[in-house]
Amino acid sequence: MTLVLGIESSCDETACAIVRDGHAVLANVIASQHELHEEYAGVVPEIASRAHVERIVPVLRRATADAGVTLGDIDAVSVGHRPGLIGALLVGVAAAKALAWSLGKPLIGIDHIHAHLYAGLLDRPGEPADRPPDHAELFPALGLVVSGGHTALYRTTSPIDIKRLGATIDDAVGEAYDKVATMLDLPYPGGPNLDRLALEGDDHAHDFPISRLDRDSLDFSFSGLKTAVLYTIRGLPQRDSAGGSSFTRGPSDLTPKQKADIAASFQRAAIRALILKIERALDQSSDFRSLLIGGGVSANMRLRHDLADLCRTRDLPLMLPPMDYCMDNAAMIAGLAYHMLRAGLVDDLTLRAEPTSRIEQR
Ligand code: KG4
Ligand code: ZN
Repeated sequence: MTLVLGIESSCDETACAIVRDGHAVLANVIASQHELHEEYAGVVPEIASRAHVERIVPVLRRATADAGVTLGDIDAVSVGHRPGLIGALLVGVAAAKALAWSLGKPLIGIDHIHAHLYAGLLDRPGEPADRPPDHAELFPALGLVVSGGHTALYRTTSPIDIKRLGATIDDAVGEAYDKVATMLDLPYPGGPNLDRLALEGDDHAHDFPISRLDRDSLDFSFSGLKTAVLYTIRGLPQRDSAGGSSFTRGPSDLTPKQKADIAASFQRAAIRALILKIERALDQSSDFRSLLIGGGVSANMRLRHDLADLCRTRDLPLMLPPMDYCMDNAAMIAGLAYHMLRAGLVDDLTLRAEPTSRIEQR
């Protein structure tokens, strides 16, 4: 039995988890900072770093208590060390180094984006499996990460071997959700609120563009969709007498029904663009045995529904994380770290926090 402690502090969630043998989640504690960033309608890096410092030790204590273990029982310490807000990452990395050094256990730095793809391979909450899932049946897998900062497709031949096939050339899909939510004057956090509002709207009320890019491209683009939504809400910008431009209307001019229709139509175009690229990747390579999905937007109802449809049609297993593991969490960090540990991919105390992902360079 191998117990791995995971620490995650890349953005606005302070999280610690304890995972046994890479699949059984014994503790998954997440302290969200949403309330601290709400009034700024976005994450304020300094506030995030300070909150991580205050919360990391209580969150760690809670995780060991929930798992019914002591720190002495831990076999390895893992931490999300990239990508993210540098000050926020530093808190988790410093805590992980201190623990690994004082316990005399291996330290494992994990790429947060890579870990999102692992979330679908963890045991479901409340349904611990006796044995780990049979990875031989699932790989090679097509992976899709849909988060606030990243949108990319990957070819994964094992939990640790991963190669990028395509990525967004502008906004991440979560970022597009958050920006459109702001345009519609929805409360923070935007993505989940837009998802809820879209349920009440007509998704064919507006014919927003679905980006395809070149015929064979596995890249994504969401900026054209975002601009189309902006002009629908605010009208075309008008030149003013000072030579600048301004909008003549805004979200307060919309009825609740009009807002819901825009939300639903945006969501149809955004999700269709994702599904289209998955279909393309599957058509380009016939050896994918499953679909692995991860990142905050994998909590989206319509995406979950459309992915289930796609996988049913293609007869592919869908490894979609349960809601608890869609958003940033440390269980996905500890789960992936178990496989790194087994492969001897451990770090030393020179491990650095890094603002960008490096998966594509593997
Ligand atoms: O993976 P995540 O928690 O953090 C990053 O690594 O970026 O993803 C956060 C993103 C945010 O943009 C948030 O608005 C979006 O995921 N999100 C959603 C939903 N829940 C979270 N977007 C659409 N529908 C949702 N239900
Ligand atoms: Zn994330």
